[in-house]
Amino acid sequence: MANPSLLILAGDGIGPEVMDEVKRIIGWFGDKRDLTFVVSEDLVGGAAYDAHGVPLHDDTMAKAQEVDAVLLGAVGGPKYDNLDFSVKPERGLLRLRKEMDLFANLRPAQCFDALADFSSLKKDLIAGLDIMIVRELTSGVYFGEPRGIHIEDNMRVGINTQRYTEAEIERAARAAFDLAMKRGKKVCSMEKANVMESGILWRDVVTEVHADYQEVELSHMYADNGAMQLVRAPKQFDVILTDNLFGDILSDCAAMLTGSLGMLPSASLGLPMANGRPKAMYEPVHGSAPDIMGQAKANPIACILSFAMALRYSFDEGAEADRLEAAIEKVLADGARTGDLMGPEDGTPLSTTEMGDVILTALDESL
Ligand code: IPM
Ligand code: MG
Repeated sequence: MANPSLLILAGDGIGPEVMDEVKRIIGWFGDKRDLTFVVSEDLVGGAAYDAHGVPLHDDTMAKAQEVDAVLLGAVGGPKYDNLDFSVKPERGLLRLRKEMDLFANLRPAQCFDALADFSSLKKDLIAGLDIMIVRELTSGVYFGEPRGIHIEDNMRVGINTQRYTEAEIERAARAAFDLAMKRGKKVCSMEKANVMESGILWRDVVTEVHADYQEVELSHMYADNGAMQLVRAPKQFDVILTDNLFGDILSDCAAMLTGSLGMLPSASLGLPMANGRPKAMYEPVHGSAPDIMGQAKANPIACILSFAMALRYSFDEGAEADRLEAAIEKVLADGARTGDLMGPEDGTPLSTTEMGDVILTALDESL
C-alpha cells in the first residue's frame, strides 16, 4: 500500500511552533520505524485569512478530504477578533469538522503520574485518572438553524438552535459504546433532559443504542451535575458521552484536572473512507495561546499526543502510539517540564524545541 498521507494545518499562534516538534517526531518514525508519511502543509484560520481572505480556502478543504488524516495546530488570535463572524479563524476549523463529517470527537483526559501534584485538585482525586470524553462534533447548537441576529419589535434578538436527529445521536452513542468496550465498559451520558427536548431525545436514543451493548454499564447525568462531579470525584468516570456544546465545556474542565491544557490531545473521527480508514483530524485541545506565541515557551506534548492518536486510530499502529506515549511519560517522570507544568520557583523551564529533543532521545532509547 502507498505511504499514508498527512495534511498539516498548523494554523495560528503557537500552532506552528508545536507542530514543528510533531514534524520531527513524524520524521523519526520514518527514519527509525520505517513508517513513512507523505506530508503536505497548508493554511487554516487567521493564517489562511491573511493569505486568501478566508479562514479555509476551498483547495485546502478539498485536500483535507483526500488525505488519510489531518493534523491541526490551533486557530485564532487577537489580531482577528474584529473580523466579520463569517471569516473568523474558528469558522475554518468548524468547516473542516462539518464537511469532513467528523462526528465523534475523542478527548482523553489522562493524568500522568509525574504531574499529579500539578493539578488544582488534590493528588489522590486525580492520580491514575483516565477519562475519555466523546463529544458529538458536527451538530447541535454549533450548527443548528435558524441562527443569527435580527430585529424584532425594534430590538436585537440573537438566535441559535439546539437540534439533534436521532441518527446523529445514535452514531455518537455507538462511538462511545465501542470505545467503552475497549476500556472500562462504563458510559455516562450527559445532557439536560430536565429542561431541553433535545436532551430527552438524547437520553432515549442513547438508552436504545445501549441495548446492543449489554456489557457496558450506562448511566445518565444532567450536564451541570456532570461538571460538578468532574471536579468532585473525576475517577468515577470512564467514557463520558455528550453533545457538542456541553462537550466543549466539559472537556476544558476535564483537561485542567490533569494539570495543564498543554497536555491534552484529541481525535475527530468520521465515517470510513474507501481504504477503510476513518475520515480523521487530530488536534490539541489547547488554543492558539497568543500570549506566549513566538517565545518558544509552548508545550508541544498535546500536539505530539494528537499524532499518537493518529497512529492508533487512523493507521492501526497501536504499538507505535504506545511507544510515543511511553516516551512522553518517561521524560515527564525524569522531570522534563515546559513552563505550563512548573511553578514560578521550580527553576528554568524547557523550551518547546528542548521538550521535542528529550522526547526524541527517549524514542531513540526505546529501540
Ligand atoms: C474546541 C474549541 C473550538 C470549539 C473553537 C476554537 C471553535 O474551543 O475545539 O474545543 O468551540 O469547538
Ligand atoms: Mg473548546
